[in-house]
Amino acid sequence: MTDQSFSRVPKPSPTTIVIFGASGDLTERKLIPALYTLDLEGRLPERYAVIGVARSEYTDEAFRAHLRKGAQTNSRLTDADDAAWERFASHLLYCQGAYDDPATYAALAARMAETDDACDTCGSHLFYLSTPPQLYPIIVAHLGAAGLSRRGSAGQDSFVRIIIEKPFGHDLASAQALNEQIHEVFDESQVYRIDHYLGKETVQNIMVFRFGNAIFEPVWNRNYVDHVQITVAESVAVGQRAGFYDTAGVLRDVFQNHLLQLMTLIAIEPPAAFNAAFLRDEKGKVLQAVRPMRLDEVPAATVRGQYRTYRDEPGVRPGSTTATFAAVRLQVDNWRWQGVPFYLRSGKLLASKATEITVQFKDVPHKLFPQSESGRPQANFITFCIQPEEGLHLRFETKIPGAGMRMRPVEMDFQFGKEFGAAALPDAYERLLLDALTGDASLFARADEIELSWQIIDPIQAGWDASDAALPTAQGWRTETAPPLEFYEKGAWGPPGADRMLAQVDRHWRISCGG
Ligand code: BG6
Repeated sequence: MTDQSFSRVPKPSPTTIVIFGASGDLTERKLIPALYTLDLEGRLPERYAVIGVARSEYTDEAFRAHLRKGAQTNSRLTDADDAAWERFASHLLYCQGAYDDPATYAALAARMAETDDACDTCGSHLFYLSTPPQLYPIIVAHLGAAGLSRRGSAGQDSFVRIIIEKPFGHDLASAQALNEQIHEVFDESQVYRIDHYLGKETVQNIMVFRFGNAIFEPVWNRNYVDHVQITVAESVAVGQRAGFYDTAGVLRDVFQNHLLQLMTLIAIEPPAAFNAAFLRDEKGKVLQAVRPMRLDEVPAATVRGQYRTYRDEPGVRPGSTTATFAAVRLQVDNWRWQGVPFYLRSGKLLASKATEITVQFKDVPHKLFPQSESGRPQANFITFCIQPEEGLHLRFETKIPGAGMRMRPVEMDFQFGKEFGAAALPDAYERLLLDALTGDASLFARADEIELSWQIIDPIQAGWDASDAALPTAQGWRTETAPPLEFYEKGAWGPPGADRMLAQVDRHWRISCGG
């Protein structure tokens, strides 16, 4: 198996990995399969241990048995034999306990001391918080109290890091509070806030496309770009997570993190070097430049939708107004992007799963040739296909062969699978776990990035939340603070309002990948 993407990643040193929330879905579907795949590819250290912590009763053996099927079916490498699993499973241990009980951390510390000894880790530890978010402060405080946040005897040669899953807060205030609680125990350099979108190869390719090529960057600005649109469409409903989702909604669930992260990568300035500090500085500058939405702008600049059967989902409150779809127009107030709208949309139960970003260019300034067959002006655009198709489309006009000078648009495609082989793209969690083990925080969010993102989302959410009680304005007028909640059918591309948002400025949403 060749895997070019990892070839320059150093091999991690011996480590004890501790997963809190070890009996949960993420551990089974993503974390263990990712570790298993890394193990199969020889990318984990010679010696390591993975200790799962959760409330469920398991022995080490039962824990391994519980994880086996998930690992074998969700690993990218499906041809590994049972012996390979047994070898990997021998690294897996389990520690049962309640998250708010000091005895759990005492037992964990004892187990970690054993694995540190057996694996010669010098006290290098990687914690992973994959529990419900309300437990984060509790676990962090207990790790601190048990002395587990400090480096081991080997000082500079060992490390203690903590990966924290999303959601990171549910608004700016809670994210700030969580950052403060974490910083009481861990230094920022130890904290790895995960956004699995940044681990996707196709997302990282945005940076290579922009900064590894000379021909695109000169047109990547307000002089040439008409607008940018980002779609994160899901065909699935809220499923088992309805209870959580109903308190969050689409803005908190995916806009604050995934969509804004995608947007920053499209919009950032080239960093002076590709390292965590410089990259995150540049991302922070983009987020700072996003114009905060005023309450009176929310109705026109946003659309909110709910799929028709959402209120029937078990766990959803009766009459819930939680949005399962949103479309948002953002402006970036800086020299490069002034006046270029960024349209972001995402929703559940849409026509298909499709994550893509289209950068649409302006029309040619002077038209020499007759319009293409459709009669509509056809602008050039570049689409980044993030998933499920992984690649890139470039659309441009070409002459229709034959007499005359008629033209029509054609697309040039690049597909990762064709170029590098179907199994070449590692899962996002493989990449991110390996980066955390080797101390590369480039693809993790820094405290300031998270807070800046919430500053963008909070005013929109506030407008929506206040919508039923129309607010008085300074002039004494009453004004709506949200667009109406529009319902949409399963398999649509969201509610009609989303199309209207673009149609009124003579634009339209595109789905360019997958066809
Ligand atoms: C998660 C959201 O962060 O991302 C989910 O909480 C969503 O609601 C998921 O389904 C989408 O991830 P992906 O990788 O399938 O696009």
